[in-house]
Formats: sequence, C-alpha cells, structure tokens
Amino acid sequence: MTSPTSDPAPNPHATADEVEAALADTKLAQVLYHDWEAETYDDKWSISYDERCIDYARGRFDAVAADEPLPYGHALELGCGTGFFLLNLMQGGIATKGSVTDLSPGMVKVALRNAANLGLDVDGRVADAETIPYDDNTFDLVVGHAVLHHIPDVEKSLREVLRVLKPGGRFIFAGEPSTIGDFYARWLSRATWAATTKVTKLGPLQGWRRPQAELDESSRAAALEAVVDIHTFDPSDLERMSTSAGAVNVKTATEEFAAAMLGWPVRTFEAAVPPEKLGWGWARFAFGGWKRLTWVDENILRKVVPPKFFYNVIITGTKPE
Ligand SMILES: C[S@@+](CC[C@H](N)C(=O)[O-])C[C@H]1O[C@@H](n2cnc3c(N)ncnc32)[C@H](O)[C@@H]1O
Repeated sequence: MTSPTSDPAPNPHATADEVEAALADTKLAQVLYHDWEAETYDDKWSISYDERCIDYARGRFDAVAADEPLPYGHALELGCGTGFFLLNLMQGGIATKGSVTDLSPGMVKVALRNAANLGLDVDGRVADAETIPYDDNTFDLVVGHAVLHHIPDVEKSLREVLRVLKPGGRFIFAGEPSTIGDFYARWLSRATWAATTKVTKLGPLQGWRRPQAELDESSRAAALEAVVDIHTFDPSDLERMSTSAGAVNVKTATEEFAAAMLGWPVRTFEAAVPPEKLGWGWARFAFGGWKRLTWVDENILRKVVPPKFFYNVIITGTKPE
C-alpha cells in the first residue's frame, strides 16, 4: 500500500507568513520544519541503511529488550522521519511488516521511497502521534526514535500507542534527550556555531565560510527548531507517564555521555561549514571518535556517572495481556 490519496502533499518551501504563524503553532512548525529538511535529512544526520545504522538501531532495541522472541509481525513507527529506525530494525530482523507514520508529508514520502528501495514490506501515512489513525489491537510492536520530545501531550500519545498495540505487544522509543544531556548538548552546539561562524570571517579561513544566505536559512530553521523541540526527559518522568498511560513492564536505559559531548559539536561544525570541505578523513574522525567514546561511556563512565547525565533515553513497556 502507498500513501492514501487523502494525505496532504509535502510543502518544502514555507513562506515567511507560514513561518511566522508556525512560531505560535507547534504542529504547523513540525510540518514546515520537517517538510523543509525531508529530502536532505539522511545526509544531514549521516543516516544510511547499511550495517552501520542497522547495528545502531538494533543496539537501541537490544539495550532494553534483548531477550524478546523475534521477529515481531506488524510494527508501527511514529514520527518515522525518513524511516531510519524502523527500516533498519526490519533489516536487523526485528519485524517482518512495517507501517511508517509522521506528521510531515515530506518525511512519509521519503520513508516510503527508502523502504521501496530496500525492498521492505512497508506502507505509510501522514499521522499525528496523539491521534493514531489505526484500529485498536493492530500492531505487535510500536517504535519511535527522537519523536516523543516533539509531541505536546506525551502521555496522550502513549495511551494511543497502548490502544493500537495488541495485548502483550511492546513499544520502544529511543533517542529521547535527557534534561541534563540536552543542557550540555545545546550549550556545546551554541558555542561551536558561534566560534565557527566567527572564525570563518577571518581572511585565510573565509573559504570555510558558507554563503551568508545559507547561514541565514540555518538561523531561521534554528528558530523553528526551538519551537519543535518541546520536551526533555528525566528517565523517571517517562516511566511514570508510561505507567499512567496503562503500560506494564516499563523500563528505561540511558546512553552516551562523552560520546554526546563529541557528537553535538561535530554535527554543529558540519552544519556551519561547506560540506565539500569535509572529506572522508573527517567522516572517519567523527565516526571513529564517537565509537571510541561510546566504548568509554559503556565500559568506564557508566560505572561512575549517574544514568540521568547520559544524553539519550530509551523507554520500553508492554500492553497488559
Ligand atoms: C527528530 S525527527 C526524527 C525522525 C526519525 N525518527 C529519526 O530518528 O531519524 C522527529 C520526527 O517526528 C515528527 N513529528 C513531530 N511531531 C509529531 C507528531 N505529533 N506526530 C507524528 N510525528 C511527529 C517530525 O515530523 C519528524 O519527522
């Protein structure tokens, strides 16, 4: 099945009036911001559908549900973006059939295109995670990555997740920013952006400066980003919301402390300079550094740093039988 004909079309070029209206309307901001970045999103976040990202997606699943019998049958993804999480989980053997959903028509279009290119059994539609347009007891698994923090009423959305899950079905949401992690990530990103855009004004480094129009567009996007990023989470808040929405067997895990302190400045630097300046050497440094620091996080820092200081929160739970 492809996207139903009633789905709205992507709108990748928002007008100034629409952007103005979106500053006071978080869901309009979600659609404009994510439609705008849908076609370039995979490049921006170095998303791929090969071993590297399959391992990453599978690793987030195993962090909280390693002993589950696999594969699940029908899985739903909320806020799928370009399909990064569910498509890679399916390739990693987690589910056999998928449905991708997102508030942004542009994202659903790209996710369905990615799924078709991979030959996966996936359909999709535009959907708000607060009012999921599927029947009760439909899915064996519901997943999401970096989506809960965008949803105004997270508990309402979790109630919807439990409604569409079959009894005994599981949900897993990964990549949610912890409150403390978000604080240091934003601080590091702002400092990196300010330093890079200042230094690249200087004579010999001007070749590393992106054209002013592109920097201005990034700043406008950053203004919308501030509207779309609604929440950060203390892991215990997410556990409480899930339990109050009706979930059982609720469990959280947190990941990335030193790795996040490298990752956020690296991504900000990449956004602030012309992409052609950064070759394979940079990509190897960025990914290799992140992997090494992830090892340090898991094997050393996890023993001494409290869980809520780590950047990423993962939560899972099941619908009562
Ligand atoms: C940070 S992106 C993550 C995309 C993808 N899951 C990933 O990890 O690459 C968040 C996505 O959630 C979507 N989104 C935001 N609010 C939503 C809502 N209320 N219902 C469904 N999707 C939503 C956005 O359009 C966007 O595609």
